Amino acid sequence: MDKPSFLFLLILAGVAIIFAYEAFWPVFIPSAGFMVPPATGFVDALALSAFFILCVSLIIGPVAVLWPKAGLSLIGPRRAVGLAAFVFSLLHAFLAIGLLYGFNVGILFGDFSLMAGAAALLVLLALTLTSSDWATHKLGAKNWKRMQYFNYLAFVLSLAHFIGNGQGIPNLHGIPKNIHVVALLLLLLGLLTVLLQVVGFLERHQRRTNEPKSAAAPALPDEKKEHEHA
Ligand code: HEM
Repeated sequence: MDKPSFLFLLILAGVAIIFAYEAFWPVFIPSAGFMVPPATGFVDALALSAFFILCVSLIIGPVAVLWPKAGLSLIGPRRAVGLAAFVFSLLHAFLAIGLLYGFNVGILFGDFSLMAGAAALLVLLALTLTSSDWATHKLGAKNWKRMQYFNYLAFVLSLAHFIGNGQGIPNLHGIPKNIHVVALLLLLLGLLTVLLQVVGFLERHQRRTNEPKSAAAPALPDEKKEHEHA
């Protein structure tokens, strides 16, 4: 199996595990005890899948820098992975607003972590709208690359929203009784994503300072399409 196909297999398997786990994970309601969640389970499964896919899209860049043999062929499909993260986020937000708040959008403005989620969604929307071949051509390589830095903003906002709204994970309110193993693992994946981004950035910085000024590195084959991997 080639590496891009393996990446998609990994993402689909991850999403399937998240949905299956969510279907069984009980919610603790003080007056009623542990209950299997109804439709809100979909809100959470879509949310966790969105966060998972967002992490994968951000891990591809550093993997391509640190282990080019394994990672370079994943730069091409990275754009599709980013789009999938937006689709899952959009469905999550739609179901959350509809099922939990009866489509009362005003609720978003009263809660910091919900606002962080809404801001993350807007940033992902902007990245999606500028990801078409036409838009990347119109923007030019430099502006397109600048736009890609907003991926980090989307990630930080999503992480803040996850920590603020996530269920079954330790947060400012303490350690919950019923730990959500998958959510906890995804939180750790979020930390791994940050770590890999930092290590990848330092590695690129070191390579740039070591490389003689006249010999600009030739573009990688897939970079021509994607401009450059972050
Ligand atoms: C307008 C945008 C958004 C709204 C209204 C929203 C709303 C919510 C709500 C209400 C929850 C709590 C769900 C519950 O109690 O069962 C939640 C959790 C969550 N959201 Fe969002 N969200 C938005 C955007 C996003 C985005 C862009 C992401 C990015 C990946 C995201 C990821 C998550 C995650 C990971 C959780 C935790 C799920 C869990 O622990 O089960 N959300 N969101």
